[in-house]
Amino acid sequence: MKVLLIGSGGREHALAWKLAQSPLMTEFYAAPGNPGIAEHATLVTLNIDDHDAVIAFCKEKAIDFVVVGPEAPLVAGIADPLRAAGFAVFGPSAGAAQLEGSKGFTKDICARYDIPTGAYQRFNNAPKAKAYIREQGAPIVVKADGLAAGKGVTVAMTLDEALAAVDDCFEGAFGEAGAEVVVEAYLDGEEASFFCLSDGKSALLLATAQDHKRVGEGDTGPNTGGMGAYSPAPVMTAEMIERTMKEIIEPTIRGMAESGHPFSGVFFAGLMITAKGPELIEYNVRFGDPECQVLMMRLKSDLLPLLLACANGTLDQVTAEWSDDAALSVVMASKGYPAAYEKNTPILALPKAGEGEKVFHAGTALKDGSLVATGGRVLNVTATGATVGEAKDRAYALLEGVKWDNGFCRRDIGWRAVEREKA
Ligand code: AMP
Ligand code: GLY
Repeated sequence: MKVLLIGSGGREHALAWKLAQSPLMTEFYAAPGNPGIAEHATLVTLNIDDHDAVIAFCKEKAIDFVVVGPEAPLVAGIADPLRAAGFAVFGPSAGAAQLEGSKGFTKDICARYDIPTGAYQRFNNAPKAKAYIREQGAPIVVKADGLAAGKGVTVAMTLDEALAAVDDCFEGAFGEAGAEVVVEAYLDGEEASFFCLSDGKSALLLATAQDHKRVGEGDTGPNTGGMGAYSPAPVMTAEMIERTMKEIIEPTIRGMAESGHPFSGVFFAGLMITAKGPELIEYNVRFGDPECQVLMMRLKSDLLPLLLACANGTLDQVTAEWSDDAALSVVMASKGYPAAYEKNTPILALPKAGEGEKVFHAGTALKDGSLVATGGRVLNVTATGATVGEAKDRAYALLEGVKWDNGFCRRDIGWRAVEREKA
């Protein structure tokens, strides 16, 4: 099978590493890819915003299957013209990608199908949003409706913070994404990430994970794309997983099909486990980054037929096998991230990864044959272990082998799970 993978982050390196192990793979391309992905696939220079160019490439190489990694091309609708041109695609249509592209769309699906989530209202002007916030009181959550690279959410502990967030949105802090605002109830509990595949009709559970969104130790400081993750999430007991499937995923699949946008791809449900049980914070329509890295370390089955079954509507004919081991990934980022950072700093050495260890590349590049850091999040140092604590020790031991002066990482990834294991 000839496969094209779209994307260039650590998530896509993990997908490439796993897909390349498939006995079904005959030719493997990635656009635009990165130096880690280049170990498994031929990199192609393609502007992925130019859908015609992507289709032309697929025709030229007689590609059988396109796997889309990130949300931006999905929300921009790359899957639709590819499908119309006859290519199998892993990833939802533009209509179904609204689950991530519009928070208001998702909340309306939740309301219609009785899916547990925080009570909410949608607004297109500041005075009405502010009046609602004053009526509800703090804590309360203010969200820009559209894609805002993880920065459009304010969890406001005071009324003033919430009112200021409304002004930020409508004054253009998030561009078009802030033209509509969702105000929702604050949910109290422990967060977890839930992953399952769908072909539009049925669901296949993958696994659970937890990530660390804040840049600083003890989960402090500004939000980032994620500074580390581990799988499984201890808070996701068998009962919570079953309830999430029944109360959240299954009604969503039904709702999307009934609304004319059957969902095929991966559901990444951000959950809050509250006193009432699992409640939906948000949907993403692609794998998490770095959650994908820990999932791929634990997946024993061939990934390619699983993703293909989503595209072909045959998900009920496949199963996924998982290792009982835990996996943990530590993100190494450029000093200064998530604010400004220096680019093209040299990465002088990477460790040799043994069994159950892997250093995934995110924002790296080759300059004159030498590896440099070009992005904010740059490396994902990942390891497995019998417990999260063991995976953590192995990942940090592996990280000692990274020689990169401009890099930093949090030293406490997995702390919540490790404390639980000690208790
Ligand atoms: P999101 O971009 O929707 O994932 O939101 C970013 C983060 O804000 C989430 O990971 C949560 O930590 C927090 N958050 C979002 N919505 C709520 C809510 N209703 N209650 C409490 N925290 C929330
Ligand atoms: N790590 C969070 C995300 O991928 O959205």
